[in-house]
Amino acid sequence: MFDQLKQQPADKILALMQSFREDPRDDKIDLGVGVYRDAEGVTPVMRAVKAAEARILEQQTTKAYTGLAGEPGYAKALTGLILGADVAPSRIAAVATPGGTGAIRQGFELIRMASPDARVWISAPTWPNHPSILKYLGMPFSEYRYFDDAARDVDFAGMMEDLSQVAEGDVVLLHGCCHNPTGANLTLGQWQSVADLLLEKRAIPFIDIAYQGFGDGLESDAAGTRLIATQLPQALIAASCSKNFGIYRERTGLLIALSSDDAMQKLAQGNLAYLNRQNFSFPPDHGARVVMTILDDPELRADWKAELEEMRAGMLALREQLADELRQRSNSDRFDFIARHRGMFSRLGATPEQVEAMRRDSGIYMVGDSRLNIAGLNARTVPILAQAIIDAGV
Ligand code: LMR
Repeated sequence: MFDQLKQQPADKILALMQSFREDPRDDKIDLGVGVYRDAEGVTPVMRAVKAAEARILEQQTTKAYTGLAGEPGYAKALTGLILGADVAPSRIAAVATPGGTGAIRQGFELIRMASPDARVWISAPTWPNHPSILKYLGMPFSEYRYFDDAARDVDFAGMMEDLSQVAEGDVVLLHGCCHNPTGANLTLGQWQSVADLLLEKRAIPFIDIAYQGFGDGLESDAAGTRLIATQLPQALIAASCSKNFGIYRERTGLLIALSSDDAMQKLAQGNLAYLNRQNFSFPPDHGARVVMTILDDPELRADWKAELEEMRAGMLALREQLADELRQRSNSDRFDFIARHRGMFSRLGATPEQVEAMRRDSGIYMVGDSRLNIAGLNARTVPILAQAIIDAGV
């Protein structure tokens, strides 16, 4: 039987992670997978996470099943963090999922169950797992222009032109903040134009928000999502706690479905729970409980926010430093976009050959499309990267 299987395409981000591990060079630099690292190259367990875990270890009296939707307090706390107080609870259906990827997957499946012909529109480029899961599920999808390679900025005119072809009931996947892989993001005015268009087209927004707090701050990073949530009658939101709580391996995500009325909300909640049951039964609890413990405790929450803010400020400082180094070395401002981009990633605009040259000659690993993880740098490695970029002729 298994001899009938076909080889599957390797995920390019995970394949890169493997090549980095296998490279024997001591001075290699990993700018590949989207994992935050501090100046020492460590992905720390955040202080508030450690404290919450200690509290859970001390106080937890059972590990019996929760509910199919996960711990309701987790959904409530995380929904509050993302949506603020402006969305009526009677509109919100939500289930805990195994990570942000689990939320994306369940969201796509919900769309397929509700409307098998609905087309999902994804940005070009986007996180490679978006089209990969859509292909796996056999769902129709199209790309909309998003990134202007020359300007290294959002191609908003192209995006709106492509989205003008969206049909009623289609789904438009948007990155809530810190666009992966480009680092180029919509302004609030542009979010408003997208919201107006989707409302007019009667299309459904699906927001993937995996980096809240890594861009301009927890509130600003959620502003586009909140605008959509308050203005559109229906929406899907897939959230991840991997990055902003640093609990990658705990697989802590949330899928939110916003409905226009109570009956639809109940139907959505029931279907989300059903989907969890079919795919894995109960979602993982530990990371969700950690997140809930932090968000519900004023002291832990304040400490978590402070540490997240330090991480964000560190990434911004690295962006500034890299842009400065490149300004000096290239005698031009053509790399200033690095300081304007937000989040963990920027797309450099190097060719695959130039990316390969940087790997071969300098041990610098970035994704083949020249996405680099800013958080993989530190003050010492920024000049090394800047020189490698110049040497590669970018
Ligand atoms: C990334 O884009 O590098 C992260 O989201 C990790 C992943 O699973 O691809």
